[in-house]
Formats: sequence, C-alpha cells, structure tokens
Amino acid sequence: MELLENNQNFGEDMNSWQTVTFLYNAAAKEVMTKLEILNDEFVNIHNYNPIEHIKFRIKTPESIVKKLKRYGREVSVPNMINYVNDVAGIRLVCSFTSDIYKLAEMIGRQNDLTVVSIKDYIKNPKESGYKSYHMIVSVPIFMSDRVVDTKVEIQIRTIAMDFWASLEHKIYYKFEGNAPESISEGLRECARMVSALDARMLTLNEEISKYK
Ligand code: GTP
Ligand code: MG
Repeated sequence: MELLENNQNFGEDMNSWQTVTFLYNAAAKEVMTKLEILNDEFVNIHNYNPIEHIKFRIKTPESIVKKLKRYGREVSVPNMINYVNDVAGIRLVCSFTSDIYKLAEMIGRQNDLTVVSIKDYIKNPKESGYKSYHMIVSVPIFMSDRVVDTKVEIQIRTIAMDFWASLEHKIYYKFEGNAPESISEGLRECARMVSALDARMLTLNEEISKYK
C-alpha cells in the first residue's frame, strides 16, 4: 500500500491538482458511506439514530493556499498532502454528547480506516470556547493500478456545539480574528450555556429512556 505522502513513486500525475482532488473526493465518499452504514446498523439494532446529519466539503484552493502560507510552507501539491490534514472534511452532527464518543469508538473499530490523530476539544475546549471531537483518519483508495492512503478530517459535535461553532465562525471572520474582548467573552459565556444545555438534554434523555 502506498501513502499519498510518499508520492515520489507515482510520477508527475500525482502532483496534479486534478489527481489529488479526485483522491480526496473518493476518500470522503468512502468515509461518508461507512458512516451512513454505521448509522443504519445502529438504527437496525437499537432503533436509534445517532447521526442527525452529515456534512462534507473539500477545501477550496484559496483556503489551502492561505493555510500553507500561515504554516510558512511553500505552496505546492506535495506540501498540501503532507501538511494540510483537512483538505477533505466531514462533519458529523449528533444529538447528545454520549453519541459523539459512541461514534468515535465505532469509527476507531473500522478495520479499513486508520486513525492518524485525535483531538478531543470536548474534554479540552479551546480558548475560544470551541468544543468538538476531531479525528484525522486515512482510508485506502483502490485505483485501477494502485492503492493510495488518503486523509480525511472528521469533526464530531452535538447540534448545540454546531450552532455555537457556526455563529462563532461568522463573528471570527467579521472581525478577522480580532474581536473586541466583550464579544469574545460573550461567546465564551454562550459556550458555557451550550455545555449546560447539552448536559441537561443528556440527563433528560436518560430519564426518558427509563419510561420505554
Ligand atoms: P487549523 O489550522 O485551524 O485547521 O487548526 P489545526 O490544524 O490545529 O486543527 P484544529 O483541530 O485546531 O482545528 C481544525 C478545525 O476545527 C478548523 O478548521 C475549524 O473547522 C474547527 N475549529 C477549530 N477551532 C475553532 C474555533 O475556535 N471556532 C470554530 N468555529 N471552529 C474551530
Ligand atoms: Mg481546519
């Protein structure tokens, strides 16, 4: 099996934007299908739907360039493959914090996915108040003449965390990262409210399940 990182062996074509875009799209599709199957299996066995919705995006060339510059790297396809882990990104939104860990465990158990790294911003929230569970996985893409391992970023969060993150993202862009302290503090306060809401919803759900 070849790693996308070790692309020297592939000749010129592996350096083309078109080929790598194809690989990232294929990898994201593979992972999406796996996640849908895991969800269906869960529904089948437990009559319960852990995933509310799934989103998928391929990073735009503009934001790949921006990120490489931020990392102080020359803009090239090999550098993108090596240093930008979120070219293909999947966001899994679920109802309860307990679902996040269930899903993460299920993903970790998939034999044909390799977990490259994990960042648990639920146990260790960011300074901003951001919470989510991040996994970088790699998936083998079977092409007609070779197999290439390709990375995909999976972000797992609750609906409430997702609500907070999308608003914070908009504000961050509005102020280009230099929001006044009162706004940042307001966002951190909202993050605490989101956590309290998630905790309350979880206990409510546990109470409700006693009645079933
Ligand atoms: P990036 O270079 O920003 O991708 O950071 P990283 O490579 O250290 O990865 P990290 O796990 O910190 O963040 C990856 C992604 O998580 C980002 O691209 C965002 O989608 C999301 N994220 C991280 N921090 C925040 C935050 O404070 N607010 C919001 N809204 N999203 C965040
Ligand atoms: Mg990112």
